[in-house]
Amino acid sequence: MRILFITHSFNSLAQRLYCELSALGHEISIEFDIADEVNEEAVALFKPDLIVAPFLKRAIPESIWAKHVCLVVHPGIVGDRGPSALDWAIQLGETMWGVTVLQAEAEMDAGPVWASAVFPLRQAMKSSIYRNEVTEAAVQAVRLAVERFASGNFVPQRVAGQTHALMKQADRAINWQTDSTASILARLHAADGFPGVADRLFGQPCHLFDAWPEASLKGEPGSLIGRRGTAICRATRDGAVWIGHVKAAGGIKLPATLALPMALELPELPLADYWKSSAATWQEISYEEAGGVGFLSFEFYNGAMSTAQCQRLTEAFKWAETRPTKVIVLRGGSDFWSNGVHLNTIEAAESPADESWANINAIDDLAEAILCCKRQCTVASLAGNAGAGGCFLARAADYVWVRDGVMLNPHYKNMGNLYGSEFWTYLLPPRVGDDGAKAIMRHRLPMTAKESVKLGFYDACLPGPGFAVDVARRAAELAAAPDFAAQLAAKQAKRAADEATKPLAAYRAEELQEMKRNFYGFDPSYHVARYHFVSRSLNSWTPRHLARHRDLDWKIPQ
Ligand code: COA
Repeated sequence: MRILFITHSFNSLAQRLYCELSALGHEISIEFDIADEVNEEAVALFKPDLIVAPFLKRAIPESIWAKHVCLVVHPGIVGDRGPSALDWAIQLGETMWGVTVLQAEAEMDAGPVWASAVFPLRQAMKSSIYRNEVTEAAVQAVRLAVERFASGNFVPQRVAGQTHALMKQADRAINWQTDSTASILARLHAADGFPGVADRLFGQPCHLFDAWPEASLKGEPGSLIGRRGTAICRATRDGAVWIGHVKAAGGIKLPATLALPMALELPELPLADYWKSSAATWQEISYEEAGGVGFLSFEFYNGAMSTAQCQRLTEAFKWAETRPTKVIVLRGGSDFWSNGVHLNTIEAAESPADESWANINAIDDLAEAILCCKRQCTVASLAGNAGAGGCFLARAADYVWVRDGVMLNPHYKNMGNLYGSEFWTYLLPPRVGDDGAKAIMRHRLPMTAKESVKLGFYDACLPGPGFAVDVARRAAELAAAPDFAAQLAAKQAKRAADEATKPLAAYRAEELQEMKRNFYGFDPSYHVARYHFVSRSLNSWTPRHLARHRDLDWKIPQ
C-alpha cells in the first residue's frame, strides 16, 4: 500500500514505524504536520491508500479524515482520550499502560479503535517509556491495524472513553517541604523530555529534568545538599533526588551546573571510583566485572557526549584496560548508546565553533582509544538508540551487538551538512563498500538493528527481552574461548596492517579538515541547524528525502 505519514516530526517512533512498514513492502512518504493546506496538498500528490499519524500535536482536518482512513497512534490505553496521556499515567502511578490505534474523527482520540497493545508501566522517565514500551506497543498495534485495514473486512469498534485535560504546570508543581521522594520522582519523570517541571533554584525560575533517586543522602527538605559532576542533589521530606538537567528561564536545556553556574559552589559529593554503586544514586559512568569481562556503562542524558564527558569516559576506558579482564563491553546508557557530540553544551559555549572543535577532538580521542585497545577484545552493546557520531564510535569496538528494536541514524548531514569524524571514513567503507557508505551518508535515513546487521555494518542483532543477559553470556564465552589469544593476536595484526597502509592519524586529519570548514568556514549551515535543533524550533517544511511525493520525478506506481 501507499501509506502517508502525517506527523509532527520524524521522531524515533515515526522512524521505527517507517522502517517496519517499509520492510513489509509498503511505500511510505512523510509530511510534517505544519498546516492543513500542506497536508491536503500531500494527500493530493501521494494519493495514499492509508494515512498513519505516528506523533501528532493537532487534530487532522475533516477535509482529510472524511475521505481517507487516518490511523492515529495514541499513547494511552483503549478509552483514554486527550493530551498528556503518558504524563498522567506516570504521575498517577498507573501500573499498566498501552497504545491505541484509532481512526481520526471530529473529536480527538474518540474514533473507532483499530488495534491496541498494553505493557506494564515502569517507574522511569517519560522519554524512556516513550522510546521503549510505547514504541514497541505502537509497532505491534500499527502493524495489526494496517493488516486489518488491508484485509478490507475488519470493522473497528467504538468504545466509551474518558477525556483528560492537558497537564499544566500547576498539576506538576512540587512541594519540596511536604511531598515524598516517590511522588517528586513521579512528577519529574512524568515531565521528562518535555516540558519539565517548573520550579525555582537559587531564587531563579527554571525547569527540571533528568531526575534520579538517591538512597542515602539527606538534608533540610528543599535544600540543595551538594553536586556530583554536573548534577545537583536536592533534599526531600524523606530523602533526596538528583537533578541532572535544568532549563533556566530563556535558556536551553543543559547539565544542571552549566545552566546554573552558582551550583558549582555546592559541596562536591564524589563517588570513590568507577565501580558501580550498589545503592541508588547519580552515577554517569560506572563499571562492573564478571567472568573476565569488564562492563563500562555511560548514562549520558539523551546520548549527548560533551567534551568533558568524552574525556571522563576515555579516562575510565583506559582505567578499564588496566584491569585483569579479556573483554571490555561498552554498554552505553539504558536509552541511548550515543548521539555524538553534545550540541547543547556547544550551543551554550562562548565560542560554539571552538567548543565544536574541542568536542569532536575529545570524541575522536575516545574512538582512537577503543580502536587501539591491545589487551582486550572490545564489544559495543547497544541497548539504546544511536545517532550520528555515536553509531561510528560504537563501530570502533571489535564487535557491535545491538538490541532488536534499536533505531540507528549513522549519518551526519541532517545537522547542517556536517561531514562527520569519529573515523567513519576508516570504519564504514570496509563494512558496506564505498558505494554503500556513500548511499548511507547521502540517504540520511534511519536504519533498524536488523538492517544494520544485514548490511554488515554491525555484527549481531539480539532479541530485546534478555538483551543484557545475552550480551553478558556472549562476552563471557568470548573471554573463555580457547582461541582467545589467537583472536587477540589477529586483531592486533589487522590494526598494525591497517596502520601501515594508512595511519589512523591520516583518517582523523582528513575528516577534521572537513569539520574545520563546517565549524569555521563561510557556510553557516551547521551553526544554523544546531541552533534550530537545540531550540526545538518547529519544522517549517518537510525535507525532500522524507516527502517522496514532492520529488519532481515521483509518479504513482501503475
Ligand atoms: N546533542 C544534544 N542533544 C541531543 C543530541 C546531541 N547530539 N542528540 C539528541 N539530543 C537530544 C534532543 O535534543 C532531544 O532532547 P529533548 O527531547 O530532551 O529536548 C533528545 O535528545 C531526543 O532527541 P530527538 O531528536 O527527539 O530523538 P529522536 O529519536 O527523534 O532522533 C536523532 C534521534 C539521533 C536522529 C536526533 O536526535 C539527532 O539528529 N541528533 C543529533 C545527532 C548529531 O547530529 N550529533 C552531532 C554530530 S556527531
